[in-house]
Amino acid sequence: MVTVSDEIRKKCLVIPDGSGYDTSLFTIPVKYADFLKSILIPNGLVKDRTHKLAVDILSSVPNTKSLVVLCVLKGGYKFCSELVDAMERYICSCEINMSIKVEFIRLKSYHNVSSTGEVEVIGLSNLSHLTGKDILIVEDIIDTGKTMTKALELIKQYNPNSVQCASLLLKRTDKSCGYVPEFIGFSCPDEFVLGYGLDYNEFFRDFPHIGVINEEGIKQFAV
Ligand code: HPA
Ligand code: MG
Repeated sequence: MVTVSDEIRKKCLVIPDGSGYDTSLFTIPVKYADFLKSILIPNGLVKDRTHKLAVDILSSVPNTKSLVVLCVLKGGYKFCSELVDAMERYICSCEINMSIKVEFIRLKSYHNVSSTGEVEVIGLSNLSHLTGKDILIVEDIIDTGKTMTKALELIKQYNPNSVQCASLLLKRTDKSCGYVPEFIGFSCPDEFVLGYGLDYNEFFRDFPHIGVINEEGIKQFAV
């Protein structure tokens, strides 16, 4: 079992090992009903936590007039959308002088439930416009941390002014390379999680909650 350091505990909501709600307590699409072990983080909690992250992020960049939000596709799309909406609401309500631009990057390192160790950059737009900018990378999950470490290396080659990362989830895994993002929604158990943008071989992205797949699901949707 991997324990949570004080540094991480201070900046995220810890979902303890062994937690999870019975799937019968939620409405689940028929196509997924038999393939989920539990609901780990209900949709409402994901959103509430994201709204607080938006405030934390904006409070930490007082002198930044413009921010480039770099959404890591595909998994980060829902989290990024909710986060940017919440940031915009806060910018308006507090009359903050800041503009946000949203850009996209696509990285791939997973096949079935295991990391291939190789990070593939696909569908990458031209990153040269990141030079001199303040960048917030928005990711769905930091698992081993290798994908984000690789992405940071790549982005830093373009000499941005600053780069920070917000990840919805940080997995407690002994395979972690030690990378910890600046902003974290939840620390989650070492299980294969899906939903709210996170997929298993492209399935479950559309599922609104964050859940844990069961053995039948791993077999059913394997490629
Ligand atoms: N679920 C979905 N995608 C992932 C995970 C996970 O647990 N870890 C890394 N990418
Ligand atoms: Mg991802």
